[in-house]
Amino acid sequence: MTVPFRKEMKVAMPFDAEAVRGQFPILSRTVYGKPLVYLDSGASAQKPSIVLDTMLDFAQTEYANVHRGVHFLSAAATDRYEAARRTVQKFLHAAREDEIVFTKGGTEAINLVAYSWLMPIIQPGDEIVLSVMEHHSNIVPWHFLRERCGAVLRWVDVADDGSLDMGALDGAIGPKTRLVAITHMSNVLGTVTPLNEIVARAHAKGVPVLADGCQGAVHEIVDVQALDIDFYAITGHKLYGPTGIGALYAKRAHLKAMRPFNGGGEMIREVTKDRITYADPPARFEAGTPPIVQAVGLAVALDWLMGLDRAAVAAHEHALLTHAREKVRQFNWLKVIGDAPGKGAILSFEADDMHAHDLATILDREGVAVRAGHHCAQVLMERFGVASTTRASFALYNTRAEVEALVAGLARAREVLHG
Ligand SMILES: Cc1ncc(COP(=O)(O)O)c(C=O)c1O
Repeated sequence: MTVPFRKEMKVAMPFDAEAVRGQFPILSRTVYGKPLVYLDSGASAQKPSIVLDTMLDFAQTEYANVHRGVHFLSAAATDRYEAARRTVQKFLHAAREDEIVFTKGGTEAINLVAYSWLMPIIQPGDEIVLSVMEHHSNIVPWHFLRERCGAVLRWVDVADDGSLDMGALDGAIGPKTRLVAITHMSNVLGTVTPLNEIVARAHAKGVPVLADGCQGAVHEIVDVQALDIDFYAITGHKLYGPTGIGALYAKRAHLKAMRPFNGGGEMIREVTKDRITYADPPARFEAGTPPIVQAVGLAVALDWLMGLDRAAVAAHEHALLTHAREKVRQFNWLKVIGDAPGKGAILSFEADDMHAHDLATILDREGVAVRAGHHCAQVLMERFGVASTTRASFALYNTRAEVEALVAGLARAREVLHG
């Protein structure tokens, strides 16, 4: 773990994946007449009934627009929306609720930092340090600053096993570095980055750090205060919550210095014909009607997740990964990409003579849902000299039997394509 478990979560009890599975109705369906084996949670996780039911119930009984009304429902909805913010605060262990900005996802959270924090201060020749394993969400916004402001992107490599090259990181952070923007967990390799160490090294040189926690926050316990991190982005739908909602944690001092990049209702204090003044953060960055039902759904998902023994969940996911890793060793036609120590539950591989999409299509016909392609990580694909990979990503509801189904599906794919 990069972040120590909080005291109450230290003891790993056996985790009952079968019992938890029962809370996810979709997992009991079949596809092509076969039981669904959902190994694509890295793209989007399924949602437990409590999330779906609560969203429906809220929409049916308490829904109204937030912050603007004096009527009963508006006050009730506002309470739920702001309570959701406090749940995200608790989940990330932020010091203050007003350090949490709701966004429509992880992508928007990172773009908010690019547009509102860095763009106004960056100078031509200033540098942004990134790793080669970033998702496009944590690359493209910085390319915008390269194109529009003359920023220079400095890339930190990974070792052949997918571990971050910390020596290269040290070398990349120099006097012109304005930000280190780095993933907490790679969506392709599963590599978990040592955020504590990264923040310590960057801060020693006076450089703020943004972590893309879209994958990391699902599998690791995050404590933004212990990390002393400047920015941390999450996305709801990978956290067993709905789509259309995410959040940015940012230190209060940064938020106060940031200029909004979306303008509209709710983010202002006063608007006249020739002047505007802005509301305080976080409202300043939440222009327009926010995703209200989704925020309520996210809060339920996070409460649900926090109610589980997360050390036991992590142990369960790790056991699935280890089992899958061991099993695929028997296939000498298959090369695993990403074997960093302590990696999260993602297994990406490339097959000899078989396109990733063909492999994924055959697996699909066996009921096994995996993802194939570049996974929005083309810089990483280039680093490993591949065009695409097939990726199985495990979640807390997956079982050992599903790993066996994946392995059987892989054997079947080889048979189909090679006889
Ligand atoms: C590591 C990582 N960062 C960012 C994102 C973007 O998240 P969203 O599409 O929910 O904005 C993803 C989603 O795949 C991801 O895996």
